[in-house]
Parts: sequence; structure tokens; C-alpha cells
Amino acid sequence: MESGAPKDRHSVGQGSGGVSLLRPPRIFCLTMLSIVFWALIFYFISTMQGDMASLLPKPSAFSLPPFRFGRDRCVGRYIYMYDLPPRFNADIARECSKFAAGVDMCKYTANEGFGPPLPPGDCLPEKGAYHTDQYVLELIYHSRMRRYECLTTDPSIAAAVYVPFYAGFDAALNLWRSNLSARDALPRDMVEWLVRRPEWRAMGGHDHFLVAGRGTWDFVRGEGGGWGSAFMTYPAVRNMTVLTIEASPWLGNDFGVPFPSHFHPSSDDDVLRWQDRMRRQERRWLWGFAGGSRPDSKRTVRAQIIEQCGYSSSCKMFASTTGVHNSPNGIMGLLESAEFCIEPCGDSYTRKSTFDAILAGCIPVFFHPISAYTQYTWYLPRDYRSYSVFIPQDDVAKRNASIEETLRKIPPAKVARMREEVIRLIPRVMYRDPAAMGVTFKDAFDVAVDAVIDRVAKRRRAAAEGHEYQDSVDGQHSWKYDLFEPGHKDIGPHEFDPYI
Ligand SMILES: *[C@@H]1O[C@H](CO)[C@@H](O)[C@H](O)[C@H]1NC(C)=O
Ligand SMILES: *[C@@H]1O[C@H](CO)[C@@H](O)[C@H](O)[C@H]1NC(C)=O
Ligand SMILES: *[C@@H]1O[C@H](CO)[C@@H](O)[C@H](O)[C@H]1NC(C)=O
Repeated sequence: MESGAPKDRHSVGQGSGGVSLLRPPRIFCLTMLSIVFWALIFYFISTMQGDMASLLPKPSAFSLPPFRFGRDRCVGRYIYMYDLPPRFNADIARECSKFAAGVDMCKYTANEGFGPPLPPGDCLPEKGAYHTDQYVLELIYHSRMRRYECLTTDPSIAAAVYVPFYAGFDAALNLWRSNLSARDALPRDMVEWLVRRPEWRAMGGHDHFLVAGRGTWDFVRGEGGGWGSAFMTYPAVRNMTVLTIEASPWLGNDFGVPFPSHFHPSSDDDVLRWQDRMRRQERRWLWGFAGGSRPDSKRTVRAQIIEQCGYSSSCKMFASTTGVHNSPNGIMGLLESAEFCIEPCGDSYTRKSTFDAILAGCIPVFFHPISAYTQYTWYLPRDYRSYSVFIPQDDVAKRNASIEETLRKIPPAKVARMREEVIRLIPRVMYRDPAAMGVTFKDAFDVAVDAVIDRVAKRRRAAAEGHEYQDSVDGQHSWKYDLFEPGHKDIGPHEFDPYI
């Protein structure tokens, strides 16, 4: 798995901190120059002599491919994207005015899912800032994939197959219906369409993936009824990789990807400048909470947070009566002025605010491992203490633990290290402008595509050797597979066992 990866990235030292973007070290540039030089020499020789092949040892079994400089950058990275009938995506997106009661989501589905651009504010970058909604990932991934550098129209060379079905938008329209077969109508239609395709039959769908801009819980209704559609329970979809904003720890084929935040940069420099700004940011508050109360919260961690923050002179939160928490600039202002940002479970385990906090260079404080640690294993370091604070929610809700005391006990040098780690994560969890050119950093889309390709490749290799690759199980231990260190294989006791 990838999640140790941020540590291994090249970084150019700027002070002791280092920059998280990939900047090639000088030796790499020199090597590239010399490769280009020699390639040119070879090119001249080959055009003069006509046939390059005569200079090379003869390959045994197959003829020489056409001469190219270096390797095809896309080998092993090609994606085949279905051109789906519009009833599975574009037609649903057009129903945006019906996605949510009282909110016209059409504003937020504009700009390929980024929503309306924000005017320059104090707390967001001058360009690339948008009012982005939390449920729009299907659009963001689809529009990015249309411009993916290694898109292919030939499924036989594809490393993975992308299904641009807007499962979450369909859920937004149909989840509330009491008629279960109506709720499942389009998901069932989608699956029946897929399994008839020759592209599907090649690997039984094990190379297929899709993105659902809602949590897994909306798609795993049991036969007896209950919440959601049954989409992710269908055998075909169980063979696929599904990216959601909140994965289940028990399913095995779904993976959490970052919620979209409010900054969608167009260049490496945009990101480097923002990271620098967050490093220098003055943080007046020890802790901050960008959230409101819930009606049913008496002895919940959320009620405790609001109570404890209210008593403290080092904590900042929104007064729940003002509308300010709907303003991205207001939210970012709060998160940027705090050392620690409190991220309790929201309506579900995860919150968009977690990614707003990372963007703000604010150290997140979690109360449940499913809020992040078992969730974004492709994105966040395995050592969660390196970038976040974990306070078990029962300590706060049942045992009256003081959040502020816990945070004050962390030595300032450790706080600085954690913040630097958070700032280093920023590019990995953002969604860049799909039209941007010449960007070298990997954003959340790139990380997801790499991870899917890796997951499929393992299955492909195993199938070639005549067995089935197993990197997860369904059921209670599935989350442990996602947290394995490379090479590790045994399901043993885990420190998160008491919570999951
Ligand atoms: C439920 O929905 C299905 C499919 O849309 C429809 O055929 C059926 O008549 C509906 N049943 C009821 C009771 O409305
Ligand atoms: C799912 O994959 C299995 C092999 O792992 C295959 O036997 C089965 O046919 C696939 N299901 C569908 C619906 O294609
Ligand atoms: C919880 O702790 C606070 C401060 O430590 C104290 O004032 C309060 O009375 C405690 N509440 C309960 C229910 O023990």
C-alpha cells in the first residue's frame, strides 16, 4: 500500500521543513540532460543508417517495436473509460435542482463540480478558490479523467477501466423513495449493462472502478430493507473497486478518497505558495471547531466539544446561530487561525472539514479511527500520530476528559513537526484544475488512480499465475488488510479493535 509514501518523496529543503512537492534533485536533472543528449546522438545515427534495429541485439520472440525515445510513459497506466449512455450520468446531472431539498445544487455542479469561483477573500488563495460542495466527486473525477494523459480507446491495453456512473447523484434523487425497486432501478440497469460488455468479461469486472460521491452506507441496503440502495451489494459491483467519501471498514472493495475542499490549483507554484503561507500563518487559537450542534446530542462528544470550547479562552468556534459556517472564507479563516482542528463524527464518521483543516495547515483531532485512519489509507501516513491527535470519543463523552489539557500536553516542537507533516499532505488531498498543464505534483485523483491500477495489477498477475489474488476479506477484519504494512499478512489484534 501507498500510505507510507509521503515520507519517501523527494523534497527540496527550505529551512528544515522541506517542501512536499516533487522537485527533481539536481543529479536527476543532469541525468536527464545526458539521456536526452545520448538519445539525440542515437537519433542521428538511426536516421542516417535507416534501421536502428541493426545496432541492437535481436530480441528473440517478437519483432522490435517502433523506435521511441525512452519508454512510453503510459505503459501500465492506461485507463479505458466507458462512454456510457447518458441516462447513467449526464441525464442525472441535469436533475441537479432536485438533489437536495431547499438547496439548488445546480450552482455546485457547475464548473465540472468545483462550483462557483470565490471572489478573492482573506483566507483563500486569490485564484483557484471555489465554493465546492461535499457531494460532487463524481463530476470532479469524470472531468479529470476526460483529460487524463493516459486515456486509451483500446480496452485491451488498459490497466484499469473507469465507469463514469453518477451513483451518488442517482442516490440523491431516489434514496428517499419508499419503493425499493424504484430506488434500485438505475443501479440494477447499470450492472446489467456492464456485465454484457466484452470489456467486463476480460476480468469479471476486477479491473473496473467507479467513484461514488457519497458514503458507502448509501449503497449497501440488505434484502430486508432499510436505508439506501443495494448497488454495492450486487456481485458485479463487489468485483469492482469503488471509491467513496466514506468507506465501510467491513466491505473490502471500497476505499475512502478525500472530500473536495475549496482550493483547486493550476500549478505547482500555486501549491508551494499556499503551503508557505500556511507555514507562516499566525495561529491565535490553540483549538478550533468549525461545526454546529446536533439536536439529539446530550452526552455526545460533539456536545462536550461545544461545552468545553465555550468555556475556554483558547478555543474558537462558530456561534451556531449565525450563518457564517456556510461561508468558505469564514470556515477557512477559523481553521487557519487554530493550531488544532476538532473533527468529531458528523452526520456520519467522516467530514469534509477534515480536508479543509489539512488545507489550512491545522492539525486534525479525531475521536474515532473510522473518521480518517481506516478510511484514507491511500493518502495519510500509517503513523497517525505524526500528523494528528487521537482522543477516543468515550474519554470525552463518558469520562469527561479535557480536550484542551490533552492538547496542551503536546510539546511545542512536536506540534511544529506535526503541522509540517500536515502541510506536506496538502497537495495529495486536493483536486487540481483538470485543465492545468505542466503540473508535476500528484493530487488526490492521481493518488487514487495509481492505487486502483496497483490493486488491479496484483489481480492480473495472480490470474496469469493461475490463482486469485486476495488482499482483503469481507467482514469484520476487512479494515485491517487496508492498514497492513507492506509484506505483512497476519490478522492479529489491533489497537483500533475496541472501536471497530
Ligand atoms: C415500484 O417501482 C417499480 C419500478 O419503478 C414499479 O414497477 C412498481 O410498480 C412500483 N411499485 C409500487 C407499489 O408503486
Ligand atoms: C466476479 O468475479 C468472479 C471471480 O473472482 C467471477 O467468477 C464472477 O463471474 C464475477 N462476477 C460477475 C458478475 O462478473
Ligand atoms: C467535567 O470537567 C469539568 C472541568 O474539568 C468540570 O467543571 C465538570 O464539572 C465536569 N463534569 C462532570 C459531569 O463531571
